[in-house]
Amino acid sequence: MPIPETLKKKAEEIVFRYPEEKRQSALIPLLFEVQRELGWITPEAEEWVVETCGSTSVKVREIITFYSMMRAEPCGKFLIQFCQNIACCLTGGEEIQHHIEEKLGIHPGETTKDGMFTLKCVECLGGCSWGPMMVVNEDQYFQLTVDKVDRIINGIKAGEPVLPDNPTPLLGNVSGERTA
Ligand code: FES
Repeated sequence: MPIPETLKKKAEEIVFRYPEEKRQSALIPLLFEVQRELGWITPEAEEWVVETCGSTSVKVREIITFYSMMRAEPCGKFLIQFCQNIACCLTGGEEIQHHIEEKLGIHPGETTKDGMFTLKCVECLGGCSWGPMMVVNEDQYFQLTVDKVDRIINGIKAGEPVLPDNPTPLLGNVSGERTA
């Protein structure tokens, strides 16, 4: 798949933020942009990122395979990363995970037939105090309940996504309610 012109243009802007000798610092922001544009990091895009950042294939592969937020394989338009770690389990995470599986008709690692959702179970997502939590693409949702998950998934399907939760409770909204 050729690299779209829109992506090349964004890459120029991203790389331009860093001094020439620090071009490799653009690696992660550029990989995120690739995911946003293509849905996942294709082998062609991976090579292109190596060239664009003046990096090496090994370095880029290390990043893609280390961070769970990097998509190294084809996946649905919306990637649901559900935390299966202990703090979220203790607050009811397993029940909610099973509800998502039932609602979408898929198991972890699978994608819905319409290509909309991929479910992935991951280790701690860093919001243990507000579990159970999940991340949909780049949006975080805390204090999940069956009802809240229904609203989030139904909202995506309807093209009216529920606003993500603010990761800093001091700043307010951890309720998952749309505030704007
Ligand atoms: S255990 Fe779920 S976010 Fe940390």
